[in-house]
Amino acid sequence: MRFDILTIFPELFASPLQEGIIRRALEASQIQVKVHNIRDWAIDKHAMTDDRPFGGGEGMVMKLEPMAACLHDVQATAPGRVILLSPRGAVYTQQTAERLAQLDKLVLVCGRYEGVDERFCHLHVDEELSIGDYILTGGELAALVVLDSVTRLLPSVLGCADSAAKDTFSRNLLKHGQYTRPREFAGMTVPEVLLSGDHAQIEAYRFLESVRLTLERRPELLGKANFSPAEEKQLKKAGLYEQVQQARAAYSC
Ligand SMILES: C[S@@+](CC[C@H](N)C(=O)[O-])C[C@H]1O[C@@H](n2cnc3c(N)ncnc32)[C@H](O)[C@@H]1O
Repeated sequence: MRFDILTIFPELFASPLQEGIIRRALEASQIQVKVHNIRDWAIDKHAMTDDRPFGGGEGMVMKLEPMAACLHDVQATAPGRVILLSPRGAVYTQQTAERLAQLDKLVLVCGRYEGVDERFCHLHVDEELSIGDYILTGGELAALVVLDSVTRLLPSVLGCADSAAKDTFSRNLLKHGQYTRPREFAGMTVPEVLLSGDHAQIEAYRFLESVRLTLERRPELLGKANFSPAEEKQLKKAGLYEQVQQARAAYSC
């Protein structure tokens, strides 16, 4: 998969692309990332990429022409889906990441200052995405969030084939707690079942822990969760079925 990133601060991407899973995915050519400095497409001698807002008011607005020219060149060979990172976009979720991971190319446009000229959005942007209800100084961190979360969903990027499928949110459940050595720390022990070697029991325990945590912390997720008949049976046995049904009814769309 290819990511093209349009930014006026390309240096911000250097370190995150050099570490961990993203670095390995780049080295294995599972992803290609090209960071474009919008300033290189500026048309005036001062390489201006922003200007004062028409109508007055605070701050500066990112100019249309350098962004459009940069995008034109980026899209020349194989066009990709153009995403503007923006606090007024749809809130980014794991489901969005799963949808984007099906594509061959994403173009991530990073705003700065007060945002980008509205005409750029109308003419060139397929989708606006927000990473949450707060304001960042620029779209670069949000672009990295999209790049990171999409990359780890690509086939063979993660070491363990099914670990993305078992992550929090992938089936609208929070992930159960995890433990590693030592078995005891500060008087706290690892749940006995995890030491039993009985994989069916471990799976059942983890499933019920996921449901308990979700009920406690994010019951609204259960509105979209689905359970197999075997899982429903487990929920009944654990006395959680009624609570789950209530949450599902309260939060189903
Ligand atoms: C300071 S913000 C502009 C905020 C804008 N004045 C407003 O009130 O909506 C500058 C840029 O950061 C990025 N940004 C800020 N918050 C974001 C968020 N929650 N998700 C995605 N991008 C964000 C966008 O690219 C935005 O154009």
